[in-house]
Amino acid sequence: MLWINFKIYKQSFGEGALKLARACQKVVDETGVKIIPVVSAFDLVRVKEVFSGEVWVQHLDFYFEGKHTGWLSPLQALALGAGGSLLNHSEHKLPPGQIRQTVAYLKRKKWVEHWEKEVDSIEKFKIMVCFGSQGQAKSWLRKLDPQPDFVAYEPAELIGGKVSVAQSQPAMIKNMVELMAGYNLVVGAGVHCAADVKKAIELGAVGVLVSSDVVKAKNPQKELLELALAFGK
Ligand code: G3P
Repeated sequence: MLWINFKIYKQSFGEGALKLARACQKVVDETGVKIIPVVSAFDLVRVKEVFSGEVWVQHLDFYFEGKHTGWLSPLQALALGAGGSLLNHSEHKLPPGQIRQTVAYLKRKKWVEHWEKEVDSIEKFKIMVCFGSQGQAKSWLRKLDPQPDFVAYEPAELIGGKVSVAQSQPAMIKNMVELMAGYNLVVGAGVHCAADVKKAIELGAVGVLVSSDVVKAKNPQKELLELALAFGK
């Protein structure tokens, strides 16, 4: 699986997000590889019009509905058809307590019972909790109950660069795979070629998170195709 985080690069503003989403769709159609655009909340609805698979948002807050201003409501995301969300990306960190609280709320039956009338497909909503280091993952994973659908390892210092986590930290990825046995581990940061994807998968990751290589590319579709083909069919 390949998550493409559109972030808020200017290339994803306005029509840009739609162009990127269309490129994702073409590559899905051509390769059959599962690609998930991770978009700004502003673009969720528009992107869903041009992309047929799951579309995620980049962040959610712990405010659901009511007298709250400017927050990103998980309930609203669901009602608009979001398939999931990142939490605690290194560019949008959350206090550990809030991560626990959000995962617990979204993954427990309590939430379903409480809101099932408002939104359907509530149980399919996915959460990926991101960690920037092994230490962070260690201390938080013990407390993440129930589990998120995915956990991601992304060393912040490699994000947006040309040196990938897969090539520069293979031993760390192996450690993370062991530490997170039983979790679906995704890795990201600096991923920019097929070899990076292959290496990540070979080391035990179930997928990769990519941003700048695709979003800032002259030809995003070409870059995406190269990364997708690395998964094989
Ligand atoms: O969420 C993915 C991201 O942080 C990785 O960014 O630009 O290094 O692919 P990038």
